[in-house]
Amino acid sequence: MSQANGNSRGFWASRMGFVLAASGSAVGLGNVWKFPYIVGENGGGAFVLVYLVCIFVIGLPIMLAEFTLGRKTQLSPVGAFRTLAPKGPWVGVGYMGVLCGFLILSFYGVVGGWTLAYIVKSLTQAINFASPKEAGAFFGSFISNTGEVTFYHALFMALCVGIVYKGVHGGIEKACDVLMPTLVIFLLLLMGRALTLPGAMEGVRFYLLPDFGKITPNVVLIAMGQAFFSLSLGMGAMLTYGSYLPEKENLTSSTVYVVLFDTFIALMMGMVVFPAVFAMGLEPMEGPGLVFSVLPAVFSSMPLGGLVSVIFFVLLAIAALTSGISLLEVVVSWFIDQWGWNRSKAVLFSGGIIFAFGVPSGLSFGLLADAKLMGMTFFDHVDNIASNYLLPLGGMLTAIFVGWVWGPKAAQAEIEKHETEFHWAAVWAFLIRYVSPAAVACVFLAKFI
Ligand code: PFF
Repeated sequence: MSQANGNSRGFWASRMGFVLAASGSAVGLGNVWKFPYIVGENGGGAFVLVYLVCIFVIGLPIMLAEFTLGRKTQLSPVGAFRTLAPKGPWVGVGYMGVLCGFLILSFYGVVGGWTLAYIVKSLTQAINFASPKEAGAFFGSFISNTGEVTFYHALFMALCVGIVYKGVHGGIEKACDVLMPTLVIFLLLLMGRALTLPGAMEGVRFYLLPDFGKITPNVVLIAMGQAFFSLSLGMGAMLTYGSYLPEKENLTSSTVYVVLFDTFIALMMGMVVFPAVFAMGLEPMEGPGLVFSVLPAVFSSMPLGGLVSVIFFVLLAIAALTSGISLLEVVVSWFIDQWGWNRSKAVLFSGGIIFAFGVPSGLSFGLLADAKLMGMTFFDHVDNIASNYLLPLGGMLTAIFVGWVWGPKAAQAEIEKHETEFHWAAVWAFLIRYVSPAAVACVFLAKFI
């Protein structure tokens, strides 16, 4: 195994490019698809408040820790942990990250494929329904169609492979430079449309007025898991992106930008979904089908609905794509850094096996729908293991590593390398040493008890 660096590794050409790419990783299906339905299921405004606390108290400090580890070592997770702690089990956290990237992309690519299919279906006017029930039946029959689902899944993976193949600057950075501003413009257009529908304010009220009676321990657990997933933390994606940074970049302000970007997009997405759903007299408690079955019905019944539908699914696909490439990059950079492979070989091989492993997830709603283990499909298991266990565990171990093994002082020295003093160093050290690990530990305890 070699520590090959050089051209295959890559670099960010500008700070803006880095912030957009890291925001692209963070802003994904988690914001556009998951966040609105989780808010809907867990009581609206109260959940949003708990989520925000998790983002800033647990997520933000861990993101800074990941960026710092990456930039210090200029390596992806396995190499980073091995370099800073050559002896001992810490390198395992790096391997866990690679495994997690592999697992998440395997099912994320399936949902990414659905978004591509829905763009095509919106363009061909197939998305036109009289009721959410009809839209739901259409969605159900689509996701159970083996050929179609596998085709779009493959297409989504091919797009990820195509971008990552071109490298960090030439592929990922250039794609995000265009895709992220497009996403923001599309989101603003959608918000304008949703908020001007008659009856929209009912949805805004549900979304923003907190009812504190709704905050239960379970709501806190869900909010924290969502914070990790949404910020792409706990599997070394942000660590990997940080490893392509030159020393002169300011890590603390970049972290704040990425966290704010991700949070605003999620909050704005709620401002699209809830006003639209309430204006059409529908219920927001639809669960995972909210975006694929309730919204198309909403679009069908509103003026300019066909256009809105195309815009919405393009936005969803962009969000999925810029996150998908970061998941793929974690696996690819492991082959490049640790195995000395060149980028093209690493990308084609990783993309291929992740797609193959994802096929059963794609078939989990059709051909393999009845092949359940403990009541859950293949898709559910992979999602559950990666999102609910590996991500929080990885986040907790990263916090413990930086807080207690590598040490906040060493991290602070890296953060302050080329910038002015890190004023929040003491607060950050406290959060990373005590608050983040304890919070995740509580979640696990609560889950098992
Ligand atoms: N943050 C992405 C989302 O919100 O959809 C998902 C994700 C991407 C998780 C990359 C983890 C990751 F490394």
